[in-house]
Amino acid sequence: MKQIAWKTLPARIYRDGDLYDTERRQIFARSWLLVAHASQLQETGEYLAVTAAGYPLIVVRGENHAIRAFHNVCRHRAGPLANDGRGKCEGNFVCMYHGWRYSFDGRLIGARDFGAVAARARIASVGSPVPGR
Ligand code: FES
Repeated sequence: MKQIAWKTLPARIYRDGDLYDTERRQIFARSWLLVAHASQLQETGEYLAVTAAGYPLIVVRGENHAIRAFHNVCRHRAGPLANDGRGKCEGNFVCMYHGWRYSFDGRLIGARDFGAVAARARIASVGSPVPGR
């Protein structure tokens, strides 16, 4: 049997911030990331907020039973919509900073003190909806 000489990556690669940024942009931001199984989000409003490859994400089961993933970042001033972890949101996601409200499909549905201009914004989608079970 032929012996294979395994080599590991140089240690500096594991600590190289520039390389990590490149990996985030070139690999993780361009492909699907497994963050949960659909069975973990069975009811409307159940969500999982995670940070994956440095990206704050929120995955939620919507009213039409579709699962969608978004950046867990408010359009106003980048406040979080949920803390990391699992939970069930009754109603809408409400930004923790100034109270802008988002539906489970990513639409901004309430921009407190900003009128109709902000109503056209959406939280940024990070992928297409995942079909429901
Ligand atoms: S940062 Fe979200 S409402 Fe201001």
